[in-house]
Amino acid sequence: MSQHPYVITISSEKGGVGKTTLATNLAIFLKAMREDLSVTVFSFDNHFTVDKMFALPGQHPHGTVAELLSGTPGRDLLHTGQYGVNYIPSSNVLSELRSSVQGPMFLARLMATSCIPGIIVIDTRPELDILTQNALYAADQVLIPVKDMASLENCRNIFTLFDSRGLDKKSLALIPCLVDSRVKFDGMFRDQRTLLKAFAINRGYRCLDTYIAKSPKVDSLNTNPDGRIFPILTHARGTDVFGQFVQLTRLMLAALRGLKESRAQQFSAWLNAEDERRNAAFASRRAAVKAHCPICGSPSLDNVNHPPGLYYETGDGGSRGFINGDCFSDLITALLLPSGSSLSPSDPLSTLLLDATAAATFLIRPVQNGAAAQMELMAIDPGGKQIIRQRIACYGYEGSITNRREARLAHLVNVTIGAQGLGQEGSFLIVHPVNPRAPESILQEESYRSFRKLRQRCMEHLAPAVTQ
Ligand SMILES: Nc1ncnc2c1ncn2[C@@H]1O[C@H](COP(=O)(O)OP(=O)(O)O)[C@@H](O)[C@H]1O
Ligand SMILES: [Mg+2]
Repeated sequence: MSQHPYVITISSEKGGVGKTTLATNLAIFLKAMREDLSVTVFSFDNHFTVDKMFALPGQHPHGTVAELLSGTPGRDLLHTGQYGVNYIPSSNVLSELRSSVQGPMFLARLMATSCIPGIIVIDTRPELDILTQNALYAADQVLIPVKDMASLENCRNIFTLFDSRGLDKKSLALIPCLVDSRVKFDGMFRDQRTLLKAFAINRGYRCLDTYIAKSPKVDSLNTNPDGRIFPILTHARGTDVFGQFVQLTRLMLAALRGLKESRAQQFSAWLNAEDERRNAAFASRRAAVKAHCPICGSPSLDNVNHPPGLYYETGDGGSRGFINGDCFSDLITALLLPSGSSLSPSDPLSTLLLDATAAATFLIRPVQNGAAAQMELMAIDPGGKQIIRQRIACYGYEGSITNRREARLAHLVNVTIGAQGLGQEGSFLIVHPVNPRAPESILQEESYRSFRKLRQRCMEHLAPAVTQ
């Protein structure tokens, strides 16, 4: 059995149109008519109808839909319930959770990775909040109960929502509910159901042929001395509604049979492809990494004595690798001090300098100033603010004698950018701090993206050239 569920969401902004009755009873009929199928139901509302209907006596629920939305795998939250239907217990803290839900596609992603097989039926609140939106976008089939003109008018918002996100609306279908079969009209529209369907079609909405009638028997199923909520399957056998649920369930099962690929399967395939793409991008970035520190020449990765503290990349991306932490901090301290002076590592000024620049991203650019070669040194803090910018006369870049610190800087530029790049656009070096315990993580998608953003900020700072 596929580990990707087929998701049916029941949604309407109107309360009292029969959503919860439809969701819970549809789950029961689905299970009754396809015993081999795993059927799960849960609700984003806080009325606990699902729990009252499905919890087994003495069952101690562990985990709720709140945990699902917090990332607990769906399969770990399934409770085997009454009538053979699985349920995920309801929660009354969902309103607080709404702000932390990671966007409207979060549930679709969860459904793709939940490993819940079979069918999931989701009951929603009568509003189009972020949870309902999630339930709508995760669904293979959205059933929108309409009982009157007001609820029909309200459907517009769901359709508009799908339009605004550019989503295919073929999953959306109206179903007339709580239809009073006794009400008859003269003329073309014989009854409420025909009228609702005609109006729906006129507005371009798909409307199911089947419907759910209003029945006093069904209405009485949640009002009894036991305080229980009985299902239509067992307690309203002789009613029209029973037959209508059979019809609706057949329709849903036929849709499932005819389905090529569920939303969860599509999403899962996309996630896998995305993973492969990320892995390939990481591998190609990793493959281009130079094995040695461009300052001291010793191996830069897996170097216990000199752990890599910084990642470097040239402006054109042609050269990249890691710099041993001490090498770069020594160089920067030397460059930032007045020429000829030096600091012992224990000097508080040295510590101060290193602290100030520890999280900074450095940009080093060779520039031609008349006949002289210079290096422009710039540092920006993690927020993108420029904290250092200076030019260093660096004759060594052109091969003549220079003092030690400038020679080291020139050497760094030579082995990374190369002597050819002088003055050309894109010939600069970015040096960015990394976690010495996991230096390569900077090459992973998200970290690398943030690095590229910082690099962009550096380049923006570069735009107005320094005039001397
Ligand atoms: N087919 C039906 N016939 C008669 N009453 C119904 C029917 N379906 C639902 N009801 C009643 O209508 C009310 C609202 O139903 P409910 O399923 O809670 O709607 P919603 O979830 O949209 O608020 C409940 O009192 C329920 O018993
Ligand atoms: Mg409800």
